[in-house]
Amino acid sequence: MDSKTILLGVIGDPISHSKSPLMMNRAFALCKLNMAYGAFHVKAEQLPAAIAGVRALGMRGLNVTIPHKEAVMPLLDELDESARLIGAVNTIVNEQGVLKGYNTDGIGYARSLEEEIGFRISGAEVLVIGAGGAARAVVYALLKRGAAKIYICNRTPERTAQLVADFSELGNIQPVTEAQLPDLKDRIQLLINTTSVGMTPNHDRCPLADTSWLHEGLTVSDLVYNPRITRLLEIAAEHGAATHGGLGMLVYQGAYAFEYWTGHKAPTEAMWQEVTR
Ligand code: ATR
Repeated sequence: MDSKTILLGVIGDPISHSKSPLMMNRAFALCKLNMAYGAFHVKAEQLPAAIAGVRALGMRGLNVTIPHKEAVMPLLDELDESARLIGAVNTIVNEQGVLKGYNTDGIGYARSLEEEIGFRISGAEVLVIGAGGAARAVVYALLKRGAAKIYICNRTPERTAQLVADFSELGNIQPVTEAQLPDLKDRIQLLINTTSVGMTPNHDRCPLADTSWLHEGLTVSDLVYNPRITRLLEIAAEHGAATHGGLGMLVYQGAYAFEYWTGHKAPTEAMWQEVTR
């Protein structure tokens, strides 16, 4: 670092587990960019001061993680369509004093599906389990990438209805109940778990009560990456389905943030190495 180093970072609470500093600093070094990325533990009551700090110190931007993704929105000058429709910001770009908020989680997920397993989103029919923040990001990106139809199933139907209402303008999206899922068997090409069910320490849990209808014509994707192979993915593989884990979303949301800040193509292989070691 020297007096010209451009500074970036991630804010969250907690933050000490974050892999983003390793991933981003490796990417800056590989691309020979004089940039440095730190992790900042910011409590909710300090969020306005932290954003004022970005402006005052002239930082190029931030990643934003739990619990600040929604609360940070009114503190910014502009919001990209992704952030506005999803209702959360995970990336801030400081464009000569104007702070713009983006959400790269969904588009990162979509790029991970396409680049890692060659899944073709355009024209696909997709079942999404869950209707929280992660589901909103994924639905946004799938519809933007031309998914033909999205079915949503969530424990709390009111949340499903809200998600359907918010995204209907972007494409074809329909609520379904858990009892209807086996009927989708031959319609969908992709099933995505966006809930936290199956995450450590509850790694023996599966978000689907009935898995008997899973088959080899499906791709099953789980946003949970801890464990890397969830119970859902294990069962899906036993039924012959193709599987896709959640770590790629972490890498590619970071890849987009890197590209917005630097204008360089992200070195995604090296970023993968950092999150998996
Ligand atoms: P995130 O930003 O990770 O999506 P969230 O907005 O809190 O987090 O959403 C969590 C999602 O996981 C929701 O769809 C939630 O279902 P509800 O809307 O019914 O709360 C789902 N979820 C969490 N725990 C669950 C459980 N034990 N069984 C079923 N769904 C669960």
